[in-house]
Amino acid sequence: MASILAFLIAFAFLLPYSSLTRAAPVAQCRSIPGDTAWPSSADWATLNNTVDGRLIATIPLAAPCHKALFNLPNLAFDLARCEALRTVWYYPETHLQSASSPMAYPFSNNSCNPWLGPDTPCTLGFHPVFSINATKSAHYRAAILFATKHNIRLVIRNTGHDYLGKSTGAHALEIWTHSVKGIKLFTQYTGPTFSGPAIKIGAGVLAGDAYTFASEHGLVIVGGNCPTVALAGGYTQGAGHGPFASRFGLAADQVLEWEVVTATGELLTANAQNNSDLYWALRGGGGGTFGVVVAMTVKAFPDTFTSTATMTVLKNETNADALYEGIGTFLQNLLSLVNSGATAVWVAAPFGFMLTPAMAPGIHQSELDEILKPTLDKFHQLGLETSYSSREHTTFLTAYNSLTESWNVSNYNVGGRLIPRELVANNTAAITRVIRNISERTLMSGVSYNVSHSVASPDDVAVNPYFRKTLFSLTVGTPINYTDWSATTAAQNEITHDFLPQVEKLTPNGGAYLNEGDFQAPDFRTLFYGAHYDKLLKIKDKYDPQGIFYAKTAVGSDRWEQDANGRLCRTKG
Ligand SMILES: Cc1cc2nc3c(=O)[nH]c(=O)nc-3n(C[C@H](O)[C@H](O)[C@H](O)COP(=O)(O)OP(=O)(O)OC[C@H]3O[C@@H](n4cnc5c(N)ncnc54)[C@H](O)[C@@H]3O)c2cc1C
Ligand SMILES: *[C@@H]1O[C@H](CO)[C@@H](O)[C@H](O)[C@H]1NC(C)=O
Ligand SMILES: *[C@@H]1O[C@H](CO)[C@@H](O)[C@H](O)[C@H]1NC(C)=O
Ligand SMILES: *[C@@H]1O[C@H](CO)[C@@H](O)[C@H](O)[C@H]1NC(C)=O
Ligand SMILES: *[C@@H]1O[C@H](CO)[C@@H](O)[C@H](O)[C@H]1NC(C)=O
Ligand SMILES: *[C@@H]1O[C@H](CO)[C@@H](O)[C@H](O)[C@H]1NC(C)=O
Ligand SMILES: *[C@@H]1O[C@H](CO)[C@@H](O)[C@H](O)[C@H]1NC(C)=O
Ligand SMILES: *[C@@H]1O[C@H](CO)[C@@H](O)[C@H](O)[C@H]1NC(C)=O
Ligand SMILES: *[C@@H]1O[C@H](CO)[C@@H](O)[C@H](O)[C@H]1NC(C)=O
Ligand SMILES: *[C@@H]1O[C@H](CO)[C@@H](O)[C@H](O)[C@H]1NC(C)=O
Ligand SMILES: *[C@@H]1O[C@H](CO)[C@@H](O)[C@H](O)[C@H]1NC(C)=O
Repeated sequence: MASILAFLIAFAFLLPYSSLTRAAPVAQCRSIPGDTAWPSSADWATLNNTVDGRLIATIPLAAPCHKALFNLPNLAFDLARCEALRTVWYYPETHLQSASSPMAYPFSNNSCNPWLGPDTPCTLGFHPVFSINATKSAHYRAAILFATKHNIRLVIRNTGHDYLGKSTGAHALEIWTHSVKGIKLFTQYTGPTFSGPAIKIGAGVLAGDAYTFASEHGLVIVGGNCPTVALAGGYTQGAGHGPFASRFGLAADQVLEWEVVTATGELLTANAQNNSDLYWALRGGGGGTFGVVVAMTVKAFPDTFTSTATMTVLKNETNADALYEGIGTFLQNLLSLVNSGATAVWVAAPFGFMLTPAMAPGIHQSELDEILKPTLDKFHQLGLETSYSSREHTTFLTAYNSLTESWNVSNYNVGGRLIPRELVANNTAAITRVIRNISERTLMSGVSYNVSHSVASPDDVAVNPYFRKTLFSLTVGTPINYTDWSATTAAQNEITHDFLPQVEKLTPNGGAYLNEGDFQAPDFRTLFYGAHYDKLLKIKDKYDPQGIFYAKTAVGSDRWEQDANGRLCRTKG
């Protein structure tokens, strides 16, 4: 004991003397629990009062599966509850109720794993320490001011869908925007660039609920495929592609106005006239870094009949060459499909090929069949057994609901890259070879559209300009293995170091969709933001000069690094 004390005293004298006498410098690292600077229980209790008792201390979702919680005996250990949790673990709804459970499991740092036995511990890992279940902008403000005052990491979570781990953070205070609801119709919105119907959508409103609301008013809005993503969250802020992309453009292209709380705690309206730089940045510059969105107002369009088509070809030992020749034809066929106003989601994998589906708003079934005929003819000519079915629905919502079975949270590590029209038009063989190499080994998907004409100039919104020449967003998935952490890490590395480099070779100076890219991408700045990065960084610095908002791969995030303890520190230089 005495020798330890002696050591500590000796150590204290080793501290550079000048650091004790200088005025407090800008903190180089965020405080974490255990630091003397970490807020006291009384500080947290005060914050809890300020936010109407909505402060939640994190208990990881899978705690009932473990005998020890935070290194103490776990009174909530309950194998029956654990078993029940396991049966619903893969559904997004399970994690939506949780303030802290990331749907992309690896971003918990494997700290409380429901699939490992009860003797493995449950710890916080990369979950936030506390969350505020916000219902209004005053709650955002209180969180921001508290995090700033106490120099602690702040993170914004909405649904927790993020594939790159941007909605969780080790040792952080989290603003949870899921309960910021409210949706409202403007039958005739009038702004400088748009007059017509518009819908104001609260931060936490889910896509499925927004589609239903629009449909009740004979309208549609631009959203994605998954019903439980929050439209005003990372989806629209990050670009947002979906079934209407070829007709109306990306989700970010539709935004007329944001209500947003900035790093000073101020509630701002950002539109074409006021705070127009922030208005621009939030349209595609990525979630989690410019401010905390309270609501957005987007263009709405008249509802329309919508056709859908699905196609499947299964691979076997003898038909692979034919299959990939057929996929080459399909890729060329996509050029005319997207130019007609349709979109297509498709999968290539060791089991074969699936179009799942083509969505064609305002296009009749017979027209869609005709558009896809070159692919079907080719598959038949190659002797491939092909199942094809198409349908026409009277509204977008009926078409959408006919396709949405149950969704899983992703059980895949993810990475991706945007594939330009020109590559497919000029060199179908090269891109098909790479697709074959990847999809014979793992799962990949393509989301295909033409968003070239939905904005007057690619610089009108912050979205990576590369989207305007994109034919499809290619996503590679490698399996997450819940019982083998190192296999999961290796599988992500395979995306970074093997699969994506093959695509990169064909798309030099290319781009990727920041919501479906590789979190380990070496130069995320150019890859995710293109030529807009520097402008975005200036806007970030104007509205968040102290760098309060941080998310991995977000604008400005390369100024910070997370160390082995999960502590966020400023990088040098
Ligand atoms: C199953 C599944 C299907 C998907 N389908 C599609 C699709 O069809 N089209 C498509 O384009 N994308 C799709 N995505 C990707 C999706 O758009 C992103 O995961 C997106 O980030 C989710 O946004 P969120 O706010 O719901 O999620 P979260 O994980 O909660 O947040 C994502 C990011 O946004 C930030 N953020 C969230 N809310 C706010 C707010 N109120 N203010 C400021 N920042 C905020 C977070 O800090 C984080 O950086 C899909 C993802 C999954 C898992
Ligand atoms: C915040 O206050 C509410 C209401 O008093 C209480 O239920 C909750 O446990 C408190 N949160 C924390 C983290 O103490
Ligand atoms: C994350 O996991 C690694 C490997 O298990 C561990 O060494 C590290 O301490 C963890 N960090 C946190 C903050 O949980
Ligand atoms: C969050 O707040 C909402 C709205 O008040 C409430 O319905 C929900 O139960 C709360 N969730 C948690 C986990 O406290
Ligand atoms: C811009 O801000 C001013 C001052 O707050 C306000 O009067 C005006 O209505 C705002 N205009 C728009 C279009 O939001
Ligand atoms: C993309 O779609 C627009 C209509 O939205 C069309 O004018 C254009 O020719 C299409 N194709 C290309 C390559 O831009
Ligand atoms: C493989 O599938 C093709 C049709 O796609 C079929 O003609 C062929 O007989 C199948 N081969 C085997 C070995 O099953
Ligand atoms: C969801 O994931 C589980 C586990 O990986 C799998 O068994 C199931 O088939 C998946 N369901 C869907 C709809 O993908
Ligand atoms: C594709 O072909 C066009 C026309 O021949 C040419 O202008 C363009 O440079 C080519 N692009 C690529 C990526 O090869
Ligand atoms: C796939 O590409 C990798 C890396 O370029 C290469 O080593 C491998 O041989 C290729 N495999 C197939 C089946 O084409
Ligand atoms: C996960 O890893 C374990 C141990 O390496 C292995 O036995 C199991 O088959 C793997 N599971 C999956 C789904 O790949």
